[in-house]
Amino acid sequence: MYTKEMLESIKKVEATRAERLANVRAGIHPRRMTAEEKEQVKMENHPDYIVTQFAELKIGPNKGDKVPLELAEILQANSRVNPAKIDLSRTDYETDVLIIGGGGAGSAAAIMAHENGADVMIVTKLRHGDANTMMAEGGIQAADKPNDSPAQHYLDVMGGGHFTNVPELVYKLVNDAPVCIKWLNDLGVMFDKEADGTMVTTHGGGTSRKRMHACKDYSGAEIMRVLRDEVQNRQIPVVDFCAAIEIIKDDKGRASGAVLMNMETKEILIARAKTVVIATGGAGRMHYQGFPTSNHYGATADGLVLAYRAGAPLLYAHTLQYHPTGVAYPSQIFGALVTEKVRSIGAQLVNKDGEPFIYSLETRDICASGVIRECKRGGGVDTFNGGQGVWLDSPMIDMLHGEGTIEKRIPAMMRMYLKYGIDMRKQPILIYPTLHYQNGGIKIGANGMSDVENLFVAGEAVGGIHGENRLMGNSLLDIIVFGRNAGVNAAAAAKKIDKLGKPTLKHVKDFAAEQKAAGIKTDKCSPILLPNYARGAKPI
Ligand code: FUM
Repeated sequence: MYTKEMLESIKKVEATRAERLANVRAGIHPRRMTAEEKEQVKMENHPDYIVTQFAELKIGPNKGDKVPLELAEILQANSRVNPAKIDLSRTDYETDVLIIGGGGAGSAAAIMAHENGADVMIVTKLRHGDANTMMAEGGIQAADKPNDSPAQHYLDVMGGGHFTNVPELVYKLVNDAPVCIKWLNDLGVMFDKEADGTMVTTHGGGTSRKRMHACKDYSGAEIMRVLRDEVQNRQIPVVDFCAAIEIIKDDKGRASGAVLMNMETKEILIARAKTVVIATGGAGRMHYQGFPTSNHYGATADGLVLAYRAGAPLLYAHTLQYHPTGVAYPSQIFGALVTEKVRSIGAQLVNKDGEPFIYSLETRDICASGVIRECKRGGGVDTFNGGQGVWLDSPMIDMLHGEGTIEKRIPAMMRMYLKYGIDMRKQPILIYPTLHYQNGGIKIGANGMSDVENLFVAGEAVGGIHGENRLMGNSLLDIIVFGRNAGVNAAAAAKKIDKLGKPTLKHVKDFAAEQKAAGIKTDKCSPILLPNYARGAKPI
């Protein structure tokens, strides 16, 4: 239900709608920004450019780099364990490939490692499938239509990332994409299709071709459903509610297991493995700069902490993605994702007076910066929860494509709003950027291995694929491409190891010594594992 003030503003949105619709029908859209304008709006408004929100790392492989304050705190925090007190002679679990994380990337890695003959085990601090994959809405990109090509996809990804992406990783991402869609389809993912079986594809921000494959607006949940089934069908063991809190190395410095903690009893367990895959996902629950998030409850950058303490460098850890359209109102769903698909299929961003202020499908960093700027310069609508928002004129969708389009293409979104008395088919919705994605992460090579031998990484914990800005639909894609890749290569690396080496946590001891030498005093322990919303409560 909207307030009186909001309803007044909606009248202005309705007053400009006929002209805006006529323009869209005639192919006239708000002007796209020039490269200089984009740079300016980003520098002046994007949270990544607020220098006071960053700190220089004093220790570890990225010493000297600037990262968000909250990330610096956990990267340089104390271990949850005292290495001297951990009994590494015990073995609670033993496997070839240990996968840390039960989301899309971890599950894809598990399936492919198993397919390649390895013994595999997944540990996850929540339940199998409690992950950002499950929350993904809009779709997954792949250049598999006759008018498209991986080369075209490559250019879009590089352009979206402002050419800061690691080329070998982008090459792999786009070239493996069509095979991955086929793999998912064959496993049973129910993609949106035309009557003749052709996949329905749409645009996302920054895409030059329609290559977004979707399962309505719950693409991630559908993909996760199928991956989880496949893990179960293969009888791959999954240990739920069990967090990895340190990587174990062997005497040759190779990753060879993890110290685990039972989330309920806090019991410490030891998993030994020939290779390890970190697939712990993102960091939205770090709430950088106080932003709300579209992420699942466990997104607390754990993998970055584990890898960093084990000596693996990070790449682009200073860059986060603020999705332009998070829910600004109502408060009950503050920060939840309003899929980019809403804009892809016709909804326009307009200010409190109903004026378009930006081309709605600029890349995410630019679009989010534009929304923030519009609110700063007075074009925002007061949300009465301490914030502001601008309108996403959703009724345009059915007006452009016919009644029933919203219900057919974005049913989950429609229902989410209906629960709060807002019918997005008839009234626009209020949005503001929300913390959505960790662009940076652990540095890997094209084989998925970090700089620590036999420590592989997949999914949102990886840095470099998307450079400093990811395009819509390339995250569901990267979890599949790089999840599968990590699984195959971790299985191959495991085959080369006859016998596990002597386990050690010397790196944890060394890190503590480095911390002390740098004069870092903190009572914070990491990984933090879960956000702590209770006032005055102790960490998990
Ligand atoms: O807007 C969205 O549906 C988000 C997609 C993504 O982050 O890839």
